[in-house]
Amino acid sequence: MAVLGIDIGGTGIKGAPVDTARGVLLAERHRIPTPRPATPAAVARVVGEVARHFRWRGPIGCTFPGVVKNGVVQTAANLDPSWVGVHGERLFSRSTKCPVLLLNDADAAGVAEMTFGRGRGHRGVVLMLTLGTGIGSALFANGMLVPNTELGHLEIGGKEAEARASERAKKKHDLGWKAWAKQVNRVLATLEALFSPDRILLGGGVSAKYDHYMDYLESRCEIVPAKLENDAGIVGAALIDRDLLERGVGARSASPKRTPRKATRPASDRDASRGGSTRTKRRARKKPGSRSR
Ligand code: BGC
Repeated sequence: MAVLGIDIGGTGIKGAPVDTARGVLLAERHRIPTPRPATPAAVARVVGEVARHFRWRGPIGCTFPGVVKNGVVQTAANLDPSWVGVHGERLFSRSTKCPVLLLNDADAAGVAEMTFGRGRGHRGVVLMLTLGTGIGSALFANGMLVPNTELGHLEIGGKEAEARASERAKKKHDLGWKAWAKQVNRVLATLEALFSPDRILLGGGVSAKYDHYMDYLESRCEIVPAKLENDAGIVGAALIDRDLLERGVGARSASPKRTPRKATRPASDRDASRGGSTRTKRRARKKPGSRSR
């Protein structure tokens, strides 16, 4: 099934049609810079433009960098504050003329990694962190997502985690990889003390540069870079359906039969994630989406 995945970030809004059975993009992604100010009307226009770019007539899954409950935005730390209380799903349905489901960006990225990436087959507690404009978090216990965890706003040593260790904080304070990794370690240590995760997945833009800082990371648990890198949000957005959102379930392909592997390098999980999941069902969206060109 093809679903258009759209990922709204602090700096860019990007989308692509996704094959939800294989977790792959069906066309080159289209990216438009996030408008400033990032008001609901301005962002809705851009989301509409992304859908028009693909001449899309079908279901859309869309991420939002804030808490989203039942389609309504509850927080917007890195976008315009006027978002709070806006029914994002309705707004984007109007601007795209398509049915839209909205969810938190890190939750979407986590679902993508649990289904097709380095969380696949992992039971126990898996924590996905996205290090970008902010820090997003997605927490899974035995494959079940606890949505909207917002761990990037946890105060650590008098400062929010995302103000310390996001990619934006690295740029803002002009930190080298080692100095930045030290900040990431502080955040990891706190999260480990609170949640005792079995595996932490590091995503966001910096997951593609994992080699630059992996040697500086210190952790009691397994840390691995996200496999889908910057496409995780788009893929995860396309995977989510209303049924799963309501049940609070994110990871459909976590198989109890798989043995977690002590992998820390990107190459290690490649085999485990080959082939993709065919279990994905989108019960709420009965009509398959299609690209009309
Ligand atoms: C937001 C989260 C979001 C994260 C990454 C944080 O500031 O509160 O909802 O997941 O940034 O975009």
